[in-house]
Amino acid sequence: MPMKTLRVDLKERGYDILIAAGLLDRAGEELKKVCPGADRVFVVTDDHVQPLYYNRVKASMKRVGLQYSVHVLPAGERAKSAAHLADLWEAMMEFGLTRTDAVVALGGGVVGDLAGFAAATVLRGVDYVQIPTTLLAQVDSSVGGKVAIDLAAGKNLAGAFWQPKLVLMDPETLNTLSDAVFSDGMGEVIKYGCIANKGLFNFLLAHPSRREVMEHIEYILTLCCDLKREVVVEDERDTGRRMLLNFGHTLGHAYELAGNYETWTHGQAVAAGMVAAARIGVNMGVTPAKGVVEFLTRLCEAFGLPTTIDCAMADYAAAIGRDKKGSGEDISFILLDTLGAAHAHKMSREALLKEIEAL
Ligand code: GLY
Repeated sequence: MPMKTLRVDLKERGYDILIAAGLLDRAGEELKKVCPGADRVFVVTDDHVQPLYYNRVKASMKRVGLQYSVHVLPAGERAKSAAHLADLWEAMMEFGLTRTDAVVALGGGVVGDLAGFAAATVLRGVDYVQIPTTLLAQVDSSVGGKVAIDLAAGKNLAGAFWQPKLVLMDPETLNTLSDAVFSDGMGEVIKYGCIANKGLFNFLLAHPSRREVMEHIEYILTLCCDLKREVVVEDERDTGRRMLLNFGHTLGHAYELAGNYETWTHGQAVAAGMVAAARIGVNMGVTPAKGVVEFLTRLCEAFGLPTTIDCAMADYAAAIGRDKKGSGEDISFILLDTLGAAHAHKMSREALLKEIEAL
């Protein structure tokens, strides 16, 4: 089986991203290589993914003599809570997890974030492996070590940087995603094209459907993960270049908040946030007036993503006020220099709100 390997070169915290069809059946073997001291593996998944893929992971662990236990969360964002985290910790202790054992996150971004945070904190930190099964998790959240839970005050507000020992992605798991969940991940794929790779953007314009993307999925995953790992290696703790990954996210957070995290998925909110941010860039004289907004809109529409979302100024203000990218009074707002290049523009929250009002 041809396998693509990308190294996230963070020295002693470095790890590989493996991409290959059918890799789920080798999960146990690959895990043994990166966590040689682990006897026990605590798998976290959800009730949507478990019936689809857990048996294959389980069989592969059994073949290499690992002991395992599985913890099944209810599918959906609500599982990323302090209550579920506490349940996970207790279940890990009941299983007899030790500091040399390992945790596996098998699922989408919610499972990866919650299981990763549990791994970061239980017994003061144990190894974990990401096995992302959604497009969003494969191109974004499984790589880079950001793990978190949501608080009443907002998403991802309690968390850690805790790098996995391995990210193992099997693109065949994307075949079982609904169109809506697939599109959700396409929001982030389009984002990579916008901020760092015009070639990817143009490739998507030339292959504007799920079917065509899936025909080239290993190429697309490899491009996205290559960009993500490069940014993470340069700026692991998100104080510089990694902020570029937040293109479309500042306004996207406002849309998610306005819809109470139910009306809009993350990818939908990011898509509309990217179009709005591109228009703000044009109004500020940073983004070229011709082409960028039009092509971005065309691409989002092709993948069924919204390009505008209604949002009250109060929701914008709330989301921007809480934005973790701010330092002091200023916010780092990501603007496009052109398709394929972006920079973080420091501006006051008031100035950004004025730009939003002028849209
Ligand atoms: N998802 C943005 C980041 O990992 O920095």
